[in-house]
Amino acid sequence: MAQWLRAGVAAGAVALLAGLGEAPAAAGQQNDRSQRLYPSLQRPPGDPEVVARGEAVYGISCRACHGMDLRGGDLGGPNLLRSQLVLRDEAGELIGPVIRDGQSGPGGSYMPPQPMSDEDLQAVVTYVHDVLGRASRQGGPPLGDELELDILVGDAAAGRAYFAEKCAACHSPTGDLEGIATRIPTPKELQNTWVRGGGRNTVRPPVTVAVTLASGERIEGELERLNDFLVVLTDGAGRHRSFGREGDTPRVELDDPMAAHREMLQVYRDADIHDVTAYLVTLK
Ligand code: HEC
Ligand code: HEC
Repeated sequence: MAQWLRAGVAAGAVALLAGLGEAPAAAGQQNDRSQRLYPSLQRPPGDPEVVARGEAVYGISCRACHGMDLRGGDLGGPNLLRSQLVLRDEAGELIGPVIRDGQSGPGGSYMPPQPMSDEDLQAVVTYVHDVLGRASRQGGPPLGDELELDILVGDAAAGRAYFAEKCAACHSPTGDLEGIATRIPTPKELQNTWVRGGGRNTVRPPVTVAVTLASGERIEGELERLNDFLVVLTDGAGRHRSFGREGDTPRVELDDPMAAHREMLQVYRDADIHDVTAYLVTLK
């Protein structure tokens, strides 16, 4: 066991270096190759007590978004079993900062920070690695295979009614979402896409901003950057313009087309999510 462990760790370190230059492994690629590449898949099972604690923390702080089985959840968290970041993590050095500080994706997806004690953080990291290790050891489903568990349990008619009420102001089943189920044939991915308001390839409409100076002059454009001290935009003529901020001066008004999707995240019930997915699956 100890010998196996040492060999595993050494192979893991080499694999980590080799892995850094690699393009992300395609979904469903052979397990043996991933096992050579990723330290996560070579570790022995975690201490059962720490794993149990981590499972509890996961249930409270992660499951709604990343799912019961880590493969992605109703609230749009990505599949952690296929995450390059998770696969490359050795002991929380990569996962820890994501939990502490949150993370925003280029497409506007967002994970809020999850404050917790160091002990809980290490426990949840151990749990994630334990699940990953078991999935690859015990003839579990191959990494990358989508489980279709509990995705298509909704009522399509109820989903259509929900869509008419909450979504039709911005989307249409015969317009922008025509054929979406053909374009995204996996129900789970379709669900993640609509809940998040886009997949990896969705072109996000820009956030626009209006800045009103103390003089009353108003400048509008696409938002480039905004913090407590500075707002930077590109105006209609393509010029970058930047303005210092102090408190409420100048006045800054944002128009973020994705705001509706973020706000809706807070109000969906599980049944709404399943119903809407069942409906969208019919849009072939
Ligand atoms: C409110 C939903 C939400 C919660 C709660 C949440 N996450 Fe996330 N998580 C996300 C989203 C969305 C992303 C993707 C962000 C992005 O696009 O970079 C993400 C990304 C991640 C990533 C990075 C994956 C990668 O490949 O970049 C890790 C690791 C992660 N989450 C772990 C956790 C853990 C562990 C917990 C619980 C302690 C947790 N998350 C809680 C929504 C959530
Ligand atoms: C206030 C407007 C608004 C509302 C309401 C809204 N969305 Fe969106 N949605 C957007 C915007 C903006 C995008 C970004 C992509 C785009 O411009 O189409 C988007 C993206 C999407 C996408 C991804 C499209 C793609 O091609 O990748 C899906 C699917 C989607 N929304 C479904 C829904 C569903 C289902 C609802 C109702 C539960 C809903 N949306 C409510 C504005 C809205």
